[in-house]
Amino acid sequence: MSAVLPAGPMAGAVEETTIAPAPDWWQSAVIYEVYPRSFADGDGDGVGDLAGLTARLPYIAALGVDGIWMTPFQPSPQVDQGYDVTDYCGVDPLFGTMEQFESLLAQAHALGLRILLDVVPNHCSSEHPLFRAALAASPGSPERGMFHFVQGRDGQTPPNNWQSVFGGRAWSRANPDSATDLDWYLHLFSAGQPDWNWRNPAVGDYFDGVLRFWFDKGVDGLRIDVAHALFKADGLPDSPSEGGVVDGLRSNPQVSDQEDVHEVYRRWRTIAEKYEPHRLLVGEVNLEPARAARYTRADEMQQAFAFAFVKLGWDPEAWAAVGNELEAARLEHGAAPTWALENHDIVRSVTRFGGGELGGVRARAALVALLGLPGAAYIYQGQELGLPEVEVPVEARVDPMWARGGVCRDGARVPLPWTENAALSHGFSLGEPAAEPWLPQPADWGSHAIELQEQDQDSALNLTKAALELRRQLWKNEVFTADDGGSWRVEAGNLLICKRNEHFLVAVAMGTEPVRLPAGTVLLTAAPLEQDGWLQPNNAAWVLR
Ligand code: NOJ
Repeated sequence: MSAVLPAGPMAGAVEETTIAPAPDWWQSAVIYEVYPRSFADGDGDGVGDLAGLTARLPYIAALGVDGIWMTPFQPSPQVDQGYDVTDYCGVDPLFGTMEQFESLLAQAHALGLRILLDVVPNHCSSEHPLFRAALAASPGSPERGMFHFVQGRDGQTPPNNWQSVFGGRAWSRANPDSATDLDWYLHLFSAGQPDWNWRNPAVGDYFDGVLRFWFDKGVDGLRIDVAHALFKADGLPDSPSEGGVVDGLRSNPQVSDQEDVHEVYRRWRTIAEKYEPHRLLVGEVNLEPARAARYTRADEMQQAFAFAFVKLGWDPEAWAAVGNELEAARLEHGAAPTWALENHDIVRSVTRFGGGELGGVRARAALVALLGLPGAAYIYQGQELGLPEVEVPVEARVDPMWARGGVCRDGARVPLPWTENAALSHGFSLGEPAAEPWLPQPADWGSHAIELQEQDQDSALNLTKAALELRRQLWKNEVFTADDGGSWRVEAGNLLICKRNEHFLVAVAMGTEPVRLPAGTVLLTAAPLEQDGWLQPNNAAWVLR
């Protein structure tokens, strides 16, 4: 790794730029995703919690990120590890108490870290009191009107052919033993996650209250789960595509991306802007760039993850094509892309990019590239360590997607290794005696430990910190501005270039031979340059021109 800090070469560049308007904090932000179950376990029960996260906040602050997105810790039977909520305004005792959350929030703010929570508006838990009330009520009742209860076609067959994202059909009988109650309820995910009926205004009112509850507490923003699927096509028509909603909801206009959903985000943006500073809305909008960008129009969410980018392999043409598509969408709708390479649902980038040493080198290059792109970025816990996907033994798997016949997401969720020594699950548990972690750590997990990487100048962790520090400097010196856009191309030898503005470009060598870098000052590389002006395969550079 090499990082040239920006004093000299940037001075000239700064003189030539016009002064950009101060960006809203989220435009330049890098947010660190914490999956609380797997981050740090304060009470030694083998499941990460709020106490563990609070104790480890200084680690996150030292990375140099701007904030944390916490995946759900609200009361839940944990059928889908918290994405099945029974009380949107509470804290599950598994993770701690509301007082602990308030203390976490205060301590994070004192360290300069913003806190985003996950809100899950597409579905709740089948144990949610309103769903329990709906089950107990009769067909056609107002209670059932909060969800999608529909009579089956002939008492035996569900109302339509939709398949669950997790596998199997998207419908379950409300009352399988009843001869008179022939209703089925819709669940795009597991049977434990009934979908809310957003065509019922009472559902929208309910969620307004949820937003206000957390914003009043001082929470800085919300990540919106399955944000594009709240409204289903009127009449719930059959899906023309075989397999129903599978394929990340992308292929099915019956189920998702309905026009009505945008009204929800206009309403939420109005709520978010009643607070100072304005609260951030970031959407999980699993759609192609042109459609996803419509969720970030000026009066909707500020950010939507660039999902077309999240899943890319090591393919420069695909990166450039997606990059240019995202840029076209930005020009049309006005919001910069929100970059991520990993999250708790997808295979770790080290493994996606080839695994082993090669995958590790590429994942470092990809992260360096990501942090130089125009727009906000999200890093998933463990990505800064270069963690690979873990092959979790079949008997230890808990992911409901796996149980329903889909892929298994547990391999990206294994508790973090803090220490080389295996005691206390590699330091994951802070309390003694420590129970086995909820997902087993593999034998070599200690070799990725944070304590080792902190001591190693060339570690993935220190590279991430250097990139984040340099990124901050570039924003401060207005080499990076909120108006930047990405112009992507592939040069001979599979050199991927993203030109951010007149002064700055990101280059990634994605071929098999060294390639000549465009002229300029190299500010940062993912691995040391072997020859001036040349980038070795699988290395990335930030170039100031
Ligand atoms: C997306 C979440 O990230 C994932 O973990 C969850 O299973 C589904 N939405 C359903 O809530």
